[in-house]
Amino acid sequence: MTKKAIIFDLDGVIVDTAKYHYLAWRELAIQLGFDFSEAQNEQLKGVSRVRSLEILLDIGNVQLEEEQKTKLLIEKNAQYLEYIAEMDHTEILPGIDDVLHYLKLNKIPFSLGSASKNARLILETLDLLNLFDAIVDGNDVSTAKPDPEVFLIAAQKLGVEPDNCIVIEDAQAGVEAANKANMLSVGIGDKEILKEADYVLNSTAELTIDFLQKLID
Ligand code: BG6
Ligand code: MG
Repeated sequence: MTKKAIIFDLDGVIVDTAKYHYLAWRELAIQLGFDFSEAQNEQLKGVSRVRSLEILLDIGNVQLEEEQKTKLLIEKNAQYLEYIAEMDHTEILPGIDDVLHYLKLNKIPFSLGSASKNARLILETLDLLNLFDAIVDGNDVSTAKPDPEVFLIAAQKLGVEPDNCIVIEDAQAGVEAANKANMLSVGIGDKEILKEADYVLNSTAELTIDFLQKLID
């Protein structure tokens, strides 16, 4: 049987942190004098911190000097980390803990493929870090999603061909990256937003062991 592997995005797939990214960016937007909706936030999902700020400033039609942007990036991350510090196991998304333990027990390799530079800290806080066979995050890539680099590095680390990898993603940019990497993409969220994905599930509660096993077999 061909060896298959699973690559998980972090924010909005393993843990319910997408809302904290949104809240922290929204606070920044309000401070800069404009509102920032959840619909607009879809554009920020999956993309790097630096790119997120550029998109946010474009939305608000705000031009800033590099120095000010650097200051805002630090501020946003500090605010985000304050939310993260309060986080516990209850914020692991439905079914994920069971799925990860099942994969581990059945020796099905899996990796993280996240844009976040806070990924290791978050997984460690949730006691999930050591379960993963590989971790690829925002510190390991030179080009962010929708570029496929993060997923291609993950496949390489796992020793599995890209077309034998299954990516679980909640972001448009992530689904695009998975498709570009020639991987099977499973979107978690809105079917309209994630229409490019091979499969779309409403939430991680639908990402059952049965569903994954069928993709692996
Ligand atoms: C992605 C999130 O996982 O990580 C984005 O979907 C976020 O919203 C990006 O901007 C970078 O995260 P961090 O933690 O490095 O700011
Ligand atoms: Mg995500």
